[in-house]
Amino acid sequence: MNQMGEQHLAVVVLAAGAGTRMKSSKPKVMHEIAGLPLLGHALATASSLGASFVVPVIRHQKDVIAPYIEAFYPNALVAEQDEIPGTGRAVECALAVLPADFRGAIVVTSGDVPMLDVATLEGLLDAHLSQGAAATILTAHLDDPHGYGRVVRTSDGSFLKIVEDRDATKKQLEIREVNAGVYVFDAQHLRTALGRIGLHNSQGEKYLTDVAAELLAEGFDVQGIPVTDNWLVAGINDRVQLSEVAAELNKRICEAWQMAGVTIQDPSSTWIDVTVELGQDVTLLPGTYLHGITRIGGGSTIGPEVVLIDTEVGEAASVVKAHATGSKIGDGASVGPFSFLRPGTELGADGKIGTFVETKNAKIGAGSKVPHLSYVGDAEIGIKSNIGAGTIFANYDGINKHRSKIGSHVRTGSDNVFVAPIEIGDGAYTAAGTIVRRDVAPGELAMNVAPQRNLADWVIQKREGSAAANAALEAKAAGATDKTSTEN
Ligand code: UD1
Ligand code: CA
Repeated sequence: MNQMGEQHLAVVVLAAGAGTRMKSSKPKVMHEIAGLPLLGHALATASSLGASFVVPVIRHQKDVIAPYIEAFYPNALVAEQDEIPGTGRAVECALAVLPADFRGAIVVTSGDVPMLDVATLEGLLDAHLSQGAAATILTAHLDDPHGYGRVVRTSDGSFLKIVEDRDATKKQLEIREVNAGVYVFDAQHLRTALGRIGLHNSQGEKYLTDVAAELLAEGFDVQGIPVTDNWLVAGINDRVQLSEVAAELNKRICEAWQMAGVTIQDPSSTWIDVTVELGQDVTLLPGTYLHGITRIGGGSTIGPEVVLIDTEVGEAASVVKAHATGSKIGDGASVGPFSFLRPGTELGADGKIGTFVETKNAKIGAGSKVPHLSYVGDAEIGIKSNIGAGTIFANYDGINKHRSKIGSHVRTGSDNVFVAPIEIGDGAYTAAGTIVRRDVAPGELAMNVAPQRNLADWVIQKREGSAAANAALEAKAAGATDKTSTEN
């Protein structure tokens, strides 16, 4: 990726801090935006630089963070920070896990800066190498620099030092250029300088930022290079910043999909994780949330008010007011409004899951329809079958779950209960109101409805004087007149 060759580059990702400003039982870097933990964004960028080592530094709540790194970045070289606090100590602990003879550049980023991109890091590396600097520091000019370390420059504009917000003088607090927390160092110079700095500051921490002044004092070159887009270095320290950065990242994700040929009617109410893939001419209507490994095929329309989590939608499908998790929706299929697709739902091409329908572990074949008011659980339905309105697949006997199998070209009546395990053969019918407890063979009609009895004049006698009885009497009288007139 860069001209150094991969033997000479390591990327350190700082993630050992306590993150106290989040006021959370969860580590700060595990809070999510756009479908990934903050640390996931930072590690994705770090891993795209082609470095020979990616070194996350962890300490606080490492039992939560380490398994995430192990699962998604098994090649990362995890470093543990000891009890000495501060970003400088964190980097020292990272250097300790690198091979002793490591030479070259060390890029340092933070687990709480999720929008930083690869191009910015590559630009910083290039600037560092072409200048032959000992340290190159990314800076940003902010309208509100509050909370950040300030970049102090000499009168001729060259880099002098970084002063932390809480250690700054009144005059220094007016400086708008801040330390973005993204650096490139020469490994050997960094090692030496870190060994020389102390913990003499208001927090009693070993600050990485003090390395800059130390290197300058030793006669090395240190440069500060401003970032062009401040959002890229926005650090998240509290939940207000978490939602602000999430909204900005989402806006950019929406813009990128719009430029790639997706219609998004209202980006502000459309949320798309970085892990989502969309085909050409997909239309997203307001209130659409696409999460996890979700893929939408070309020409499909999603929304309004749809949540899709780890769900695959084919081409030219339509999903309206629905919530789906771990499901597959085929080409040309239609879902909603008011449908709940739980994991294991697979709807075939041109199939339908309609209004007030819940499905789970249900394979519904091509062209088959479950249009109204039904629960389909642990079932397999063949092709071109129709499930009547108000049908319940009774999959649970109180102890175990059982499966139902419905064939192809089946027509089931309204208000059926399929008591699993059962099987209904191809081309079979069931009558309205049937409770299907036994298998139905191909072509059979199943019915178990008791014969209907109509008790004559029951209402007129038992509810005498009621509106119903009077209406019945009137209808009978009118009927009698009609009869007489036709007979004449
Ligand atoms: C830090 C910088 C500040 C800069 C800002 C940019 C220092 C001393 N200050 O301040 O100049 O403007 O970032 O966002 O570096 N961490 C550890 N171990 C620790 C302490 C922190 O690994 O002992 C990690 C944190 O998990 C976090 C990162 O380092 O990912 C930054 O720490 P944080 O406490 O957020 O520093 P800031 O106050 O933001
Ligand atoms: Ca921070």
